[in-house]
Amino acid sequence: HKHLLGIEPLSPQDITALLDQARAFEEVCERPSIKIVPALRKKLVVNLFFENSTRTRNSFEIAEKRLSAEIINFDADTSSLNKGETLIDTAMNLEAMHPDLIVMRHSAPGAHALLARHMKASIVNAGDGAHEHPTQALLDAYTLRKHFGKLEGLRVAIVGDIRNSRVVRSNLWLLTRMGAKVTLVGPPTLVPQEMKATWPSIDISHDFDAVIPKQDAIMMLRAQFERGTGAYIPGQGEYSRFFQLNPARMQRAKKDVVVLHPGPINRGLEITSEVADGPRNLILDQVTNGVPVRMAVLYLLSHPHGEQVP
Ligand code: CP
Repeated sequence: HKHLLGIEPLSPQDITALLDQARAFEEVCERPSIKIVPALRKKLVVNLFFENSTRTRNSFEIAEKRLSAEIINFDADTSSLNKGETLIDTAMNLEAMHPDLIVMRHSAPGAHALLARHMKASIVNAGDGAHEHPTQALLDAYTLRKHFGKLEGLRVAIVGDIRNSRVVRSNLWLLTRMGAKVTLVGPPTLVPQEMKATWPSIDISHDFDAVIPKQDAIMMLRAQFERGTGAYIPGQGEYSRFFQLNPARMQRAKKDVVVLHPGPINRGLEITSEVADGPRNLILDQVTNGVPVRMAVLYLLSHPHGEQVP
C-alpha cells in the first residue's frame, strides 16, 4: 500500500504484517543500546494536524524520531490557512518541498483520500472527522493481541458515543476482519442501527449491564461534545446512569476483563477514575504501544517491498 487512509482497505494479512512489524520495533526500542533505528534516514515526514491532539501527534513524532526521519511539524495556527489558503493549496505547497510522508489529522471525512489523489507523498490518516482513525485501531489491536495472544474469538464491547466516533469505525473494520466478536453499546440515539448493514457480524445493545459479563474487553469511548453529542443524550447524569463504566459495573465483568479507552477521558462521565486507573485498565499501555505501531506504519509505507530490515 502507498497510503494508510483507513483500515477498510486492509486485508487480515496486511493487519497481521503491521502488528508483527510493530512487535519487532517494540523489541528493538526496548533495548537501551539500540532504541533508534536508521529505517527512515533521509526521509522527510510532515506532520499536518488541523485538529487538536495529544497522543497521536506526539506518538507519531516519537515514532519518526526512533526511525531517524527528518521531521516538519506544520503549525496550522500560524500558517497561511489564516489568510484563507485552502487545504489543497497548503498541501500542494508542502508537496513542492518533496516530503516522503504526510501524517495528517483533519475534521473533514475523506480529506486524506482527496489529498492522496493529488500528492506523490504517502498519506497517513491520523484521524478524519468521524470516518477513520486507523493507527488507533491498530494500537488497540496490538494491545489486545499482546494481552490475550490473539484477536480471533475475543468478545469486545465498544461502549458510548458510537455515532461520532472514528475510533469505532476503524476498530469495527479491524476487529471483525480479524474474527473478534464486537457488541456496540449505547443509547439508541448514539448507536446508528444502519451500522449492522456495513458490519453484519456485530451485535447492538442498549443494555450495558446485560452485555458486560460476556466480554473479554470493554472499550469505552469519549462522549464527543465538540461533535454535537449533547444533542443526542437527555443529560450527562442520565447518560452516566446507564452507560458509565464504574466499580459496580466492573463487579459484573469477568475477573480477567480488560478496559480500554482511546483518550482523552471524560473522568466521571463515561468512566470513573477508580476504573480508569484501576487494575484491569490498559489505557496507558495503549499509548505506549502507539509508538511501535506507528513506526511499523511509517516503515512499511516507506518500504513496501521490505527492502530494508530495521
Ligand atoms: N486517541 C487519540 O487520538 O488521542 P488524541 O486526540 O490526543 O491524539
